Amino acid sequence: MAERIPIASDHAGFELKEKLRATLAEMGYEVEDVGTHSTASTDYPDYAHPLAEKVEKGEAKRGVLLCGTGLGMSYAANRHHGVRAAVVWDPEIAKFARSHNDANVLVLPARFVTEEAAVAILRNFLDTPFEGGRHATRVRKIEPENG
Ligand code: RB5
Repeated sequence: MAERIPIASDHAGFELKEKLRATLAEMGYEVEDVGTHSTASTDYPDYAHPLAEKVEKGEAKRGVLLCGTGLGMSYAANRHHGVRAAVVWDPEIAKFARSHNDANVLVLPARFVTEEAAVAILRNFLDTPFEGGRHATRVRKIEPENG
């Protein structure tokens, strides 16, 4: 069965979200669009929290968020236990976010990446496995109770 990937944005990320939905479908994923559904002004936490909750509860293994800078979405998503939301602006960083940091939410700064870069970032994020080993020790310590 295809992995279901939730994706959400605010108004600033809406247009890029629409394009990445198509990329996800082409890659064989089932896409769950958590909004927003237009370029009308919205508040990014209204979209970050529902998506991060899905990852926190294990309803989704990975998710994708977009806003203007990526910052607001990452702040809100990272409040959720077990969520590691990475702001990524370069395809190479996407690989490290997965292989070293086991990121489970990709956050794209829609106003600062081209569509081409965003597609390459998304592909690397989804295709790169976590390396484990010493990185697993470090990732475990991210949760304050293990630090
Ligand atoms: C919206 O103008 C903008 O503030 C938002 O998309 C995001 O960049 C916040 O971090």
